[in-house]
Amino acid sequence: MLAIVKDDYDAMSAEAASLVADRMQKKPNLVLGLATGSTPLGLYRELIRLHRDEGLDFSKVTTFNLDEYVGLPPNHEQSYRRFMGDNLFSQVNLDPRFVFLPNGMANDIEAHCDWYEQQIGAAGGIDLQVLGIGSNGHIAFNEPGSSLGSRTRVKTLTRETREDNARFFASPDEVPRYAITMGIGTIMEARELILLATGENKADAVRAASEGPLTAMVPASMLQMHRKAYVILDRAAASKLSGEYVHTYHAASLVRRPR
Ligand code: F6R
Repeated sequence: MLAIVKDDYDAMSAEAASLVADRMQKKPNLVLGLATGSTPLGLYRELIRLHRDEGLDFSKVTTFNLDEYVGLPPNHEQSYRRFMGDNLFSQVNLDPRFVFLPNGMANDIEAHCDWYEQQIGAAGGIDLQVLGIGSNGHIAFNEPGSSLGSRTRVKTLTRETREDNARFFASPDEVPRYAITMGIGTIMEARELILLATGENKADAVRAASEGPLTAMVPASMLQMHRKAYVILDRAAASKLSGEYVHTYHAASLVRRPR
């Protein structure tokens, strides 16, 4: 696990974008795992800018999103498909045939989850997965206690997560209770992981994930087992890490780092 600490949110987002862009340039048909939520918005804005101003090409890229609320139709304002459409897909040249999100309206959710896993496999596996972290240490919607080997499936959202996400809904009661999420085992098979975190309210979760014991109660701690996991933070999110773990690297130097 490599912690990369940047001064602020914009610098953190730019660092993540240059890492993603680097991998897309090296492999135009990259399989890119995507996250929703507030944290990756700056990354998506920067990728859109790179596409518009510098010709970053998404035409051969395949994307897989981590999760989707159960029961929200794709065009619902708070569905993750809508979020991705508004904040990335509509503004870059992705081929819609290569864009995958779980379908929260699937009739047979279990079969749909199996299908999603098969699609990831058929695409050759995820090259680079972008992750956020919940204040309770979740990754995707793998809430505390999730099996560390889990695959794509339905999870019940914790009260904490529903409260955290209530800011996007008209009332807390409208936050769905269930989500389809890639499992921790699915995420761990991605060849590289980037976990992004910003702000003081993530500092405890970042510390538990990076320096605490490996435990299903902090699903993000599983990243300690991954050979190529980059944790890109702003200073506030990194504020509770012990000094020795904190390094500042540029994406270019990451690329050359021996492993
Ligand atoms: C979303 C996801 C979640 C979020 C996490 C942080 O696809 O997988 O794990 O990354 O809840 O959300 P924000 O960024 O809104 O703080």
